[in-house]
Amino acid sequence: MPVTSVIGLQWGDEAKGKVVDLLTEKHEIVVRYQGGNNAGHTVKFGGNTYKLSLLPTGILHSHVRSVIGPGVVINPKAILTELDSLAAGGEDCSSRLMISDRAHVICPWHLLEEAAFEASRGDAKIGTTKRGIGTCYREKVGRFHAIRMGDLVLKDVFAAKVREIVPIKQKILNALDPDVEQMDADQIIEDYTACADQLRDNVADTTAWLLDALDEKKNILFEGAQGSLLDVDHGTFPFVTSSNSSGCGIHSGSGIPERAIDQMIGVAKAYTTRVGGGPFPTELDNEIGEQIRVAGNEFGTVTGRPRRCGWLDSVATRYSARISGVDCIAIALLDVLSGHEELNICEAYNINGTVTRDLPARSEDLADAKPVLRPVPGWQEDITGIRRFEDLPENAQKYVRTAEGLIGSPVKIVSVGPDREQTIHLD
Ligand code: GDP
Ligand code: IMO
Ligand code: MG
Repeated sequence: MPVTSVIGLQWGDEAKGKVVDLLTEKHEIVVRYQGGNNAGHTVKFGGNTYKLSLLPTGILHSHVRSVIGPGVVINPKAILTELDSLAAGGEDCSSRLMISDRAHVICPWHLLEEAAFEASRGDAKIGTTKRGIGTCYREKVGRFHAIRMGDLVLKDVFAAKVREIVPIKQKILNALDPDVEQMDADQIIEDYTACADQLRDNVADTTAWLLDALDEKKNILFEGAQGSLLDVDHGTFPFVTSSNSSGCGIHSGSGIPERAIDQMIGVAKAYTTRVGGGPFPTELDNEIGEQIRVAGNEFGTVTGRPRRCGWLDSVATRYSARISGVDCIAIALLDVLSGHEELNICEAYNINGTVTRDLPARSEDLADAKPVLRPVPGWQEDITGIRRFEDLPENAQKYVRTAEGLIGSPVKIVSVGPDREQTIHLD
């Protein structure tokens, strides 16, 4: 398929990075279109482990041009740190990276403001990754104090904007927290300009470039970050991120028309995880949840926080698959579920006596949802070495088919381990 997209169907960390890496072989361009360095993708192949955050996963392939689109928010220091760490490992990737001049820049005030807001929310805090993502997106939508990559690389334009914004932001920050750090505009200009000098050659009009690539029938892969349930419009608001992390964000975040996408692949774990706050109907705050956390090594790539674990929630996953209109799904980390007598899949919610298969809009209603569970017999075997679907234990096959039926989308990939090779392709 010439133009493919990969999105997460849960609350992030579904193994999108692994699936993107698998598909990159057949693509010439990989595009990140939303989010920022709140994302964390781990990819394993050839005995090596790569951890990526802001860079598209395609950056690991030398034949690929990697693009960061207009919808991404960029911390210039973070991107350079990531490029440097790949270079230290022998992968000099900078020359194959393009960054949109329309992408917005995360600045020090975004991080300070986010910290102050989160502290003020007490127990109701979102549990963000503390990367200034939400505050940068807020500035973009608000339009007054926003800086884009195209401004950053123009030294005088950037300096003038920083000198205008810093005093205003400082007043707001002082009001939020009297002990807040005092910003130094000159220092910010110096630090960011040093980053701009290193990134200038990467900054370009990626929209025009991608549209030309489309005309030339190039194979393009769109890489989603976060998961659809963290989508700011369609997710479990307000416990979401600040971008459109479902398939709905591809067009706005890249400038590529909706009809250009030939195939949309949704990635779901064989169970569910969530990092940060917010309702999670199938959460297992018990020994089984702990077993899954240990078996799946469920600790955040970005913040190291233990991920909350629970049964596969087909209501939420089906909702995600439907809003983006996915063509098929990849079920990942099936191997993590080996060794249980019985597993469960949530097939409906009971919300104060009303049984539904739709995801409620209000987080408070989702918090009241009791999962209606469908038991599925488990399997004991280690399945990490299996490469054909028919070789999986009968109950593992049954589990995948049950999930497929409840989510309502055909399963085309089953992942049974973190390595590129540990993959079962159906059909
Ligand atoms: P992403 O944010 O969606 O790209 O996912 P992450 O990379 O944050 O989290 C997925 C984790 O699961 C990573 O540590 C992967 O190496 C790992 N992983 C991916 N697929 C599998 C699998 O099938 N089985 C196991 N056990 N681990 C996997
Ligand atoms: P990947 O791409 C899992 C969560 C945070 C928090 C909420 C808002 O690896 O799947 P933010 O910093 O974005 O304002 O935090 O979203 N979150 C993620 N959870 N995987 C991610 O990315 C996430 N990115 C953000 O934990 O609950
Ligand atoms: Mg992740």
